[in-house]
Amino acid sequence: MQNQTAVANTYNYQVVRQFAVMTVVWGIVGMLVGVIIAAQLAWPALNFDIPWLTYSRLRPLHTNAVIFAFGGSALFATSYYAVQRTCHTRLFSDKLAAFTFWGWTLVILLAAISLPLGITSGKEYAELEWPIDLLIAVVWVAYAINFFGTIIQRKTPHIYVANWFFGAFIITVAVLHIVNSAAMPVSLLKSYSAYAGVQDAMVQWWYGHNAVGFFLTAGFLGMMYYFIPKQANRPVYSYRLSIIHFWALIFTYMWAGPHHLHYTALPDWAQSLGMLFSLILLAPSWGGMINGIMTLSGAWHKLRSDPILKFLIVSLSFYGMSTFEGPMMSIKTVNALSHYTDWTVGHVHSGALGWVGLVSMGSIYYLLPRVFGRDSMYSTKLIEVHFWVATLGIVLYIASMWIAGVMQGLMWRATNPDGSLTYTFVESVKATYPYYVLRLGGGLLYLLGMVIMAYNTFKTVAAGRAYNAPIPAAQIHAVAHA
Ligand code: HEM
Ligand code: HEM
Repeated sequence: MQNQTAVANTYNYQVVRQFAVMTVVWGIVGMLVGVIIAAQLAWPALNFDIPWLTYSRLRPLHTNAVIFAFGGSALFATSYYAVQRTCHTRLFSDKLAAFTFWGWTLVILLAAISLPLGITSGKEYAELEWPIDLLIAVVWVAYAINFFGTIIQRKTPHIYVANWFFGAFIITVAVLHIVNSAAMPVSLLKSYSAYAGVQDAMVQWWYGHNAVGFFLTAGFLGMMYYFIPKQANRPVYSYRLSIIHFWALIFTYMWAGPHHLHYTALPDWAQSLGMLFSLILLAPSWGGMINGIMTLSGAWHKLRSDPILKFLIVSLSFYGMSTFEGPMMSIKTVNALSHYTDWTVGHVHSGALGWVGLVSMGSIYYLLPRVFGRDSMYSTKLIEVHFWVATLGIVLYIASMWIAGVMQGLMWRATNPDGSLTYTFVESVKATYPYYVLRLGGGLLYLLGMVIMAYNTFKTVAAGRAYNAPIPAAQIHAVAHA
């Protein structure tokens, strides 16, 4: 009985520990698969004629592993940590927390088996077949109950803005997943979408773009709003701006999906609407970025000596870059050049490696020692090395893809005076080859950074212990000084 009261007076760090460690593990796995497919693009023979290793099967394995396993674990870990700390209460249910961890791990393992076997629904970022989709829905609902249950039983008077973003991410991903995965099963391993033709495409990219907006952005903005003020030891630059940021961002994202379907059978007005909302999206995106970066005002010197802050702040620079580039690419005439080229892949990875990757790594570096009962990570020097190796990797990756992409677009549209094409397609493939090798180099560096993080994590965990901090007596806090 006494033991139970003692547990109730502490935060549940168990589930945070589990997801934090798995973030590092899945990061290595997902990025390794990324490196393999990057190598296959340069040297296609690397599939060794084995069906499970073909590019077509490993590519969705990469995207699922990095987005849902690596990114997802980081989101679970940080949201469970931040919601408890800012609400001054233990998680609503330990059992549900454990269920989300094991359920999510099962989803990842099933994905890792089914995708190389070629079992797929064929919808990008939603490839998993219907039984796994059902499991995802159940796990997600458990996550939502646990997260919002914690908010309801909070001991603080208001709901800190990080939780708004985490909450929007949880609700929206549930809606997106359930609507987009609606399908008619024909066997245990095969189903067909409930939608047909252009409606299917529209539902898919409504899902796809909002997966970017809510899975790859809103949740990570939750991280930004909690971990930057904590690491910088300063309140958020403008709380008012954060509220405007929240409503403007979630309202605008919903309408931008058609920019993935320019020049298709989708009605022209819908394409133009998607473009318009994408352009508007620049404003809330940059408002949020400015709010995050300016949190450091008056404390810029900390950037010099604190590598965790470097991760967090530089992630915002990449966020700013990719959310400037995205609206530009959504302009129809620009998209006519960029679509189908590696420019899109460069854009994706400036968001994915630069924003999602770096902000997750910074946040995990912040919370790992705290949930393992240590003052800091095993080596601060290694965090610094990780930061520089990863940043160099990102620059190599995205610069090579930008050059390759613009080059491909220009080569494909070049015509001779008599109207014939100047280049054959294969000439553009040959011209791209050096950039694929360069991108592989960037990917290897980024992966190396992750291996360094794994070593640092291992040493920190090995010297630490399972620690669950006590919950302070209820106090009123306007900022994330939890
Ligand atoms: C070592 C790091 C990484 C490497 C080497 C890598 C490599 C690749 C490659 C070669 C592709 C296929 C591009 C194509 O089809 O032309 C790809 C696609 C993709 N990757 Fe990565 N990747 C890495 C990390 C990440 C991370 C951390 C994320 C997300 C958090 C991510 C998200 C994606 C997405 C969303 C796509 C699909 C892009 C599209 O359809 O346009 N990647 N990656
Ligand atoms: C204001 C914000 C953004 C806008 C308006 C935007 C716009 C776009 C556009 C126009 C495309 C190309 C569509 C095509 O030609 O097929 C695209 C692709 C993509 N963007 Fe963004 N982007 C934004 C931010 C981001 C961020 C921050 C990330 C990642 C964290 C991201 C991830 C992606 C992905 C994964 C794709 C490739 C989808 C695919 O074809 O598989 N975007 N985006």
